[in-house]
Amino acid sequence: MTNTVLVTGGCGYIGSHTVVALAQAGFTPVIVDNLFNSEGAIIAALGQICGTPPTFYQADVRDEKMMADIILRHGIRHVVHFAALKSVAESVERPLDYYHNNVGGLLALLNAALKGNIEDFVFSSSATVYAPHSVGAISETAPIGPINPYGGSKAMGEKILHDAAAAHPVLRVALLRYFNPVGAHPSGLIGELPRGVPNNLMPYMCQVAAGVRNELTVFGTDYDTPDGSAIRDYIHVTDVADAHVKALQVMIGKKTSMTLNLGTGTGHSVLDMIAAFERANNLKLPYTIGPRRAGDAVVVYANANKARDQLGWTARLSLDDMCRDAWNWQKSLKSV
Ligand code: NAD
Ligand code: WQD
Repeated sequence: MTNTVLVTGGCGYIGSHTVVALAQAGFTPVIVDNLFNSEGAIIAALGQICGTPPTFYQADVRDEKMMADIILRHGIRHVVHFAALKSVAESVERPLDYYHNNVGGLLALLNAALKGNIEDFVFSSSATVYAPHSVGAISETAPIGPINPYGGSKAMGEKILHDAAAAHPVLRVALLRYFNPVGAHPSGLIGELPRGVPNNLMPYMCQVAAGVRNELTVFGTDYDTPDGSAIRDYIHVTDVADAHVKALQVMIGKKTSMTLNLGTGTGHSVLDMIAAFERANNLKLPYTIGPRRAGDAVVVYANANKARDQLGWTARLSLDDMCRDAWNWQKSLKSV
């Protein structure tokens, strides 16, 4: 049985961290990435962390023939599929690009995988598949109801994989719904590379701390939360990566499919995150209070019990670890 794993989007933020975790667990990652939102230099960085650089193909997952050739050439039986576009705001402006890339890419890859007798398929899903909800932790049985094309592309991906697994008993699928991955590998060699002005809180805070941005705007402190700012479930990207290895090991061992939240199970507000970032890095972060951001939910955090029970996995790293590692990575970047 081969331990080679096809990692699509493996030069990206979460994919690169998962490549490290897979290699350290004894798997052999093979990366496919079109470098649309990442840089080839990541391969050398992965080589420094893992000892040897992983096999890398600069290719698009929508190239079904290329995907089939790679799977055949390496005798691959397991796929971890990260390759996608991931900006909620951008998906509203360019929905067809998101469906073509995220859904079309999945369909092409899945066709190639089924021809190549792939047995395990891990899919990067997202908390954005859930319908807006009122209060409390979100469990996997919460209603699905994405409110933007990005979340829609992820919900479609889940349905496609669910139906493919039902039609092809050899195929097992793991649908992993990430909440808010942040932070970076402690080596400072890999991390998030947001293009242009970051949409997300953590990279924006890092760029303010680095003097790349003047100040952070807190999008609203008039929400019905303890300090008025919105609450999210921030989880260290290394914990997310470790969960992928655990999921693959359980799928291989128990020959089972799964749908799991990947979160800490604890919510933190924007103001909490600013305080944690200042504490962990011993600095002051200039910020102002601005209006709410359109489309933002008030409280989003995971019920993380199912991943604990099914994988024996829980998030280990703290808010301080997330903030310190994110800042350590930012400091390693050349001027943005
Ligand atoms: P990322 O943009 O850093 O990584 C995605 C990688 O996929 C990039 O390297 C990009 O070049 C590549 N890619 C995109 N389209 C491709 C294609 N057609 N063919 C080949 N390569 C392609 O994003 P990320 O934050 O690492 O996210 C990885 C996955 O996790 C995505 O599917 C995303 O939707 C999902 N996700 C991310 C978050 C988050 O907050 N970062 C949260 C939930 C889910
Ligand atoms: C977190 C909190 C903002 C920036 C996103 C997307 C999606 C998903 C996970 C893929 C919110 C506030 C932010 C800023 C702020 N990824 N904020 N000032 O929106 O929870 O989720 O990431 O599936 O990309 O859904 O994350 O980091 O954008 O925002 O006040 O400059 O920080 O309003 O409350 P979000 P985020």
